[in-house]
Amino acid sequence: MLILGIESSCDETGVALVETGDAGVPVLRAHALHSQIEMHQAYGGVVPELASRDHIRRVLPLAQTVLERAQRRLPEVDVVAYTRGPGLAGALLVGSGVACALGAALDRPVLGIHHLEGHLLSPFLSVDPPQFPFVALLVSGGHTQLMQVDGVGRYTLLGESIDDAAGEAFDKSAKLLGLGYPGGPALSRLAESGDPTAFKLPRPLLHSGDLDFSFSGLKTAVLTQATRLGDELPARKADLAASTQAAIVEVLVKKSLAALRHTGLRRLVVAGGVGANRELRAQLNAACAALKVRVHYPELHLCTDNGAMIAMAAALRLQGGIETASRDYAFDVRPRWPLQSLVGCATDGNAEQPR
Ligand code: KG4
Ligand code: ZN
Repeated sequence: MLILGIESSCDETGVALVETGDAGVPVLRAHALHSQIEMHQAYGGVVPELASRDHIRRVLPLAQTVLERAQRRLPEVDVVAYTRGPGLAGALLVGSGVACALGAALDRPVLGIHHLEGHLLSPFLSVDPPQFPFVALLVSGGHTQLMQVDGVGRYTLLGESIDDAAGEAFDKSAKLLGLGYPGGPALSRLAESGDPTAFKLPRPLLHSGDLDFSFSGLKTAVLTQATRLGDELPARKADLAASTQAAIVEVLVKKSLAALRHTGLRRLVVAGGVGANRELRAQLNAACAALKVRVHYPELHLCTDNGAMIAMAAALRLQGGIETASRDYAFDVRPRWPLQSLVGCATDGNAEQPR
């Protein structure tokens, strides 16, 4: 079965083709991505209306590129998958509209995918995919969650951020330091030349005894330090960036280890944009090696938003018989959509029925 996946929830348009066999992990045949970073940079963040318009411009040419790269033709596509949510409503509607139009034109079913499930299952795109069960640290721009993952669609929330996500902490701190958008990669680049012990910044909820996170106080602490430094700030910016990154990374690492202890599991999967952070990877690798715990990451270029993870999540859901694709082309989107309410999720009695 050949699945075309379309991602358009925020500021990247991604399209991919994934193929399932009778058994085994589905295979990525091709993927293509257009990042809108340059377009939004002038505004210091994502402008939703511009994002939607750009998705419209990019999505079909990207689909064409993917078909060419995979040497397949559009009628060979069996299912069209798209990101149904969460994300920007207008941006989601572009992917959903195009997916439903393609489905209707080709007489093929469509399947709406949860963006975070795409991230969660993205390590299955790597050459060394994880085995279930595992603990997942999901660190995207808007979400920081620890999950127990027992299988596709079987997710138990262990803890999450009660305010800002780790990605937001990176982005907001970077903005305070004048590093622009997207802040995470810029802050971590600057941090490489700084001293992570230079400033004492808070590690919120580090000893709370639960698996929740809180990052909103961090940006206030960064602002206080920056104001205190005054004229000295330019010379100390790398130190402040390194100290900020150290605070975020320490909390993420310690809570991940606590989640492994709590569940007794020996495998950790890290997914979402912040999973591209080098310092986070280095510290998790060291801590997990000492505990003989396996850590899996998506390929670096598939950590941030892409179409491959959407096609892969669709492939795994269909292969596992959790959901069937539908010929209902009345496209709908879910800008807010809790992962635990997914069809097939073991933990929620109120799981939605397939549409
Ligand atoms: O998963 P993602 O691409 O989009 C969402 O679904 O939100 O995550 C984007 C987030 C942003 O907050 C971005 O600053 C952060 O991931 N990010 C990073 C790095 N690369 C992306 N944060 C820290 N270090 C990085 N290298
Ligand atoms: Zn994402």
